[in-house]
Amino acid sequence: MCGIVGAAARRNVVPILIEGLRKLEYRGYDSAGLATLNGNLDRVRAVGRVADLQTRADQARVDAPTGIAHTRWATHGGVTEDNAHPHFSAGAGHEICVVHNGIIENHEALRRRLREQGYVFHSDTDTEVIAHLVHSRVVSGDTLFEAVRSCVRELQGAYAIAVISKAEPDTVVGSRRGSPLLLGVGVDGSGKGENFLASDTSALLQVTKYVAYLEEGDVVEIRPDGYTIVDADDAPASRPIVESQLSADAIELGQYSHYMQKEIFEQPGAIANTLEMVAGASALSPELFGADAAEILGRTRQILILACGTSFHAGLVAKYWIESIAKLPVSVEIASEYRYRDSVALPDTLVITISQSGETADTLAALQYAKQLGQSDTLTICNVPESALIRQSKLRFLTRAGPEIGVASTKAFTTQLASLFVLTMVLAKVHGRLDAKREHELITQMRHLPAAMNHILECEPAVRHWAQRFAPKEHALFLGRGVHYPIAMEGALKLKEISYIHAEAYAAGELKHGPLALVDRSMPVVVVAPNDALIEKLKSNLQEVRARGGELYVFADRDTHIDPSDGVNIINLHDHAGPLSPILHVVPLQLLSYHVSLARGTDVDKPRNLAKSVTVE
Ligand code: F6R
Repeated sequence: MCGIVGAAARRNVVPILIEGLRKLEYRGYDSAGLATLNGNLDRVRAVGRVADLQTRADQARVDAPTGIAHTRWATHGGVTEDNAHPHFSAGAGHEICVVHNGIIENHEALRRRLREQGYVFHSDTDTEVIAHLVHSRVVSGDTLFEAVRSCVRELQGAYAIAVISKAEPDTVVGSRRGSPLLLGVGVDGSGKGENFLASDTSALLQVTKYVAYLEEGDVVEIRPDGYTIVDADDAPASRPIVESQLSADAIELGQYSHYMQKEIFEQPGAIANTLEMVAGASALSPELFGADAAEILGRTRQILILACGTSFHAGLVAKYWIESIAKLPVSVEIASEYRYRDSVALPDTLVITISQSGETADTLAALQYAKQLGQSDTLTICNVPESALIRQSKLRFLTRAGPEIGVASTKAFTTQLASLFVLTMVLAKVHGRLDAKREHELITQMRHLPAAMNHILECEPAVRHWAQRFAPKEHALFLGRGVHYPIAMEGALKLKEISYIHAEAYAAGELKHGPLALVDRSMPVVVVAPNDALIEKLKSNLQEVRARGGELYVFADRDTHIDPSDGVNIINLHDHAGPLSPILHVVPLQLLSYHVSLARGTDVDKPRNLAKSVTVE
């Protein structure tokens, strides 16, 4: 989604702003812009890619020590240059520019009031109200810092903003509530201080590794020689400066053609990192989830999992695991549904949120809603330390997947699954449902996961071959049963989001209750076929498809002994991996969607209409 970069330095910051936007491209955007201060306030905007913005900035020869920049993912108002950020307000000798991530919910009321005051609006965005609001304060004598501090009190909704004023040429002011914003503290080549703002650490690694995560409601003023922070109550605040562990290499493509491909192949390492503390141990301890975990997990009587998209699918797999191994009831809800419905809060519920980014607006709101209902035992499984979800949960487990840049989630999903399996075992142990022998067996199987996944990745050439036959299709069905049904759902989601082929997943037993009507010669049916307790039932479902002429593409455990025949294509994987099988079976589905997308020539890493972190509703 939208991205922000801001800089206050003593050198030309335009290349820094543009490189920062480039690093944020993966989040998804449709226009970009920047504004700089160097005597004048200059603004350059472009619909399309950051490269287009760079061309325009080069043509305009902008060169300045202070500036703000933005990539916009349209919410209010179409994809036009007028709607691209920064937004501008001018009059009475003052000029203001603002960039904004998030949504201002009361923008209509503010717009009406500002129009009455004589402000003219040039865009359809909610952001423009912030520019005029700040301008109205500056004109009445406030400094930029004072103006932003009083303005944000009037904003309802979610925002991260960065603002500059022509009257204060070395200052950028930022603020956040609901959307991430961090401060970067740096030193230029001649040893002089410089400070930055960004919505994501990756934008700043080019200039500094030292960052401070701003808290909800914080307002920060940065200048080359320092910065000042006030908190939501307008009181002076200090936020710890931490050294980011993100390495610049981790966000480079290296030998790969696409981030998605890189991230699929990074999965064995990502799982090994995530399970590092577990795999070395002979027994699992609740403290893996936080200091209070033994007490909280011990009193847990049921579990509510809240998440979106791929992370929701991870939650569905966890339901099967937790109910079968730990014997605790689990419900899994799409966060955007849960947050708006009346639900019955049960005592001693552990609320688990799952998220790659830790900033997904619906998941954050669902967590807040669950807490309002009195469910205060919370755990988040997340890939981003210091993210809002981590900070708002009592317990946490970090998936150590490293940065995931491709919009289609891959390694974040498998590391979520690995983490949820650890949680399942810990819950089972705390509730006396896992004896030492079984615990040892399962830890041994987990230790083997990275190697097993390397083995699965060897199926890539065969999958690439299938992808050529898939590429001309416009529809596909995915089937799975039991704990592999959510894996079929994940396979369908991956295919549709990057190849734009319409794909649906069904629990294979549901076929004859409706979807079988769709099956004919032109319908490819992808089947997840582990050699588990349901394999004979699944084989009957395959017969139902073949009998209607549907072409089967089956990813089967080697020990299922399903033979290829006319219309039945088989890729044999490993022997059955027991309860960990879903973590392996999703990998060929990721590869399939990747290669189908390549064959169709779609934008693998930045599929149309999608954003990486969905920080607005
Ligand atoms: C699909 C995908 C999305 C995300 C969803 C939640 O490949 O990535 O469905 O899973 O937007 O995002 P997080 O996990 O960041 O909360």
